[in-house]
Parts: sequence; C-alpha cells; structure tokens
Amino acid sequence: MQTSWIPFVPESASTVSGKVDALYFYLTGVTAFFTLLISGVLIFFVIKYRRRMPNEIPRPVAGSHKLEILWSVIPFIIAMSMFAWGAQIYFQNSRPPKNANEIYVVGKQWMWKIQHSTGQREINELHVPAGRKIKLIMTSEDTIHDFFIPAFRIKADVLPGKYTTQWFEATKPGAYHLFCAEYCGMNHSGMIGSVIVMQPTEFDNWLSGNASQQSPAVAGQMLFQSLGCVSCHGANGEGGRGPALAGLFGRKVFLTNGQTSIADEGYIRESIENPQAKIVNGFGPIMPTFQGQVTPEQLIQIISFIKSLQVSNPQTTAATAASPAPTTGTAAPASVTPAPNRQ
Ligand code: CUA
Repeated sequence: MQTSWIPFVPESASTVSGKVDALYFYLTGVTAFFTLLISGVLIFFVIKYRRRMPNEIPRPVAGSHKLEILWSVIPFIIAMSMFAWGAQIYFQNSRPPKNANEIYVVGKQWMWKIQHSTGQREINELHVPAGRKIKLIMTSEDTIHDFFIPAFRIKADVLPGKYTTQWFEATKPGAYHLFCAEYCGMNHSGMIGSVIVMQPTEFDNWLSGNASQQSPAVAGQMLFQSLGCVSCHGANGEGGRGPALAGLFGRKVFLTNGQTSIADEGYIRESIENPQAKIVNGFGPIMPTFQGQVTPEQLIQIISFIKSLQVSNPQTTAATAASPAPTTGTAAPASVTPAPNRQ
C-alpha cells in the first residue's frame, strides 16, 4: 500500500483528496494558532500581573466595546470561512457527475461484494481506472456498514433497504486500503479490502478478461421475465396494466395522492417491495409485493435493467406519464417476446 510523505496522513490519490487535505490543514492551522496564542498570552499575563504584596488591590478595569466587537467579529468570519469552504467541498462530493461509470457495492457481514456494470464481480477488491469518474451505488444485506477509502478521502454509510451513493476519480495507479468504517459485528475489523487503480487501457483489458459474466442489466431482464413483471409492465417495459418503465429512471412520477416522486433507485426498490406505498396516477393498487422474493443483489439487477431501458427505448419514454392503462384486471397480458440484450 502507498504511504504519504506527511506522517499520519494517508496517500492522496483522488481529485478530491487534495481539497479535503487543504481544508483539514486550514482547520488544524487555525486551531494550533489560537491554542498557542491564548496559552502564550495566558502565561505571560499570569507572570506579569502576579500579586507581589499580600495586601495588593488591583486597579479597576472598565469594559471596552471596541474590543468586544473585534473579538466577536473576527471569530465569526473565521468560523464562516470554515463553513463556506467545507460546504463547497461537501456539495461537490455529494453530487455524482452524470457521466460517471456505475459500480454496485453490496455490504454483508463481513465482506464487500462488488459488481461492475458489465457484469464482473469482485469480493473485497475494487478495480478502477485512473482518470475516470466512478459512481458507487451501495446497499447492505444485513446491518449498517460504511464504505471508506482513506486515500480518496471518501466515506459513506451503506444501509439495508436503502441506496447510498458516492463518487470519486482516482488520480494515481496503485493499491489502496478499503475499510468498513461502521462497527457491524464480530468481524467488523476484518471487513477490509483493497482498491486497485489501473491505467485506463490496463483496466479495459482487465474488464474484458472476465467477459463471460452476465451484466446486471441482463440478469435483471431475466428476473423481470421469471418474476412475471412482463405481464403488466410489458416485455420491453412499454407498460400495460402497470406503468411503463422505459425511460422512467430519473424522471418525475405523478402519484394518485397528488404528490410527485423522483424515480431513483430507492423509489424502484420501494415500488417492488411495497407497491402500495406510492401508486402512479392512473393505475390501481393491483401489484403484489415482492418483499422477501428478491435479494438485494437481484434488486440491483432489476434496477439496472430498468435503467438500461431508458437508453435503448427513447421513443417509448413519452408514454410513461401520459397514458393511464385500465385499472381493472381485464386487459390482456402483454405478449412475452424476448427483448434484445442491452448492456
Ligand atoms: Cu461492515 Cu463494519
């Protein structure tokens, strides 16, 4: 593993790590400066104004408004500079860029299961190319974990029943530590791994070297058929008794209760596990729950399939919100035709 030239500071190997370090050194610098200033002045005054005679009475001291304002305003400006700087990095770090490559991460006691969008699986290892933006979509099979790559200065909780994301762009090829940073049971300290940053061409070779594995979108398509989703949502997600799914991902959905929701990972998961929670406008509450029938990894595959529908079927996207299907169960099921593979 790489180490840094500064003691106690991990290697800096992502586009954000230098910014996080600069802020951190600023905070440490301000803290060290005032600690030294206050303790120095304290010691100086204790000696200078010590009591010299047993019956000495000091001269009375009146307050100073100027001084009071000065030592209120200066700390306020310093505190706000920390806030503004920190918020700027936080916002940048919490908004994954649109063109990022997506990698799925599933935490479980006590390992990290990782799957690339082309299908390659890894355990406790994450291979990524340098100089490309990577978005991690993370969930847990059991308890709360936390995916932490110190060299990239990124860290986020991984929760059961919810998707969290984080993103990074690695800058230097090498091997870096991967930690679970949330106590998750007996072998928490063993829930570690490595992130291997490769040159982009080397990475592409590595990725195509394991090409036999099925991509999550194709696995999701098979689940979509075997679980019977096709009978209401159509083989290509074109809709029917259920809402159309092609072009759905990332869009606004209008619900029967007059509210709207964004069709993100969390929305799709909820619609599969608890379909009555949010009913799309124009449809009836006819979908059964699939809670317990799909594993977290299968949920990711189905979500990945629904995402893939967006790219390949732009002509059907307009139908999503506009064409309510009959809410009674009389419509004929959509014909089950094998859909073309999408990657
Ligand atoms: Cu997983 Cu600690």
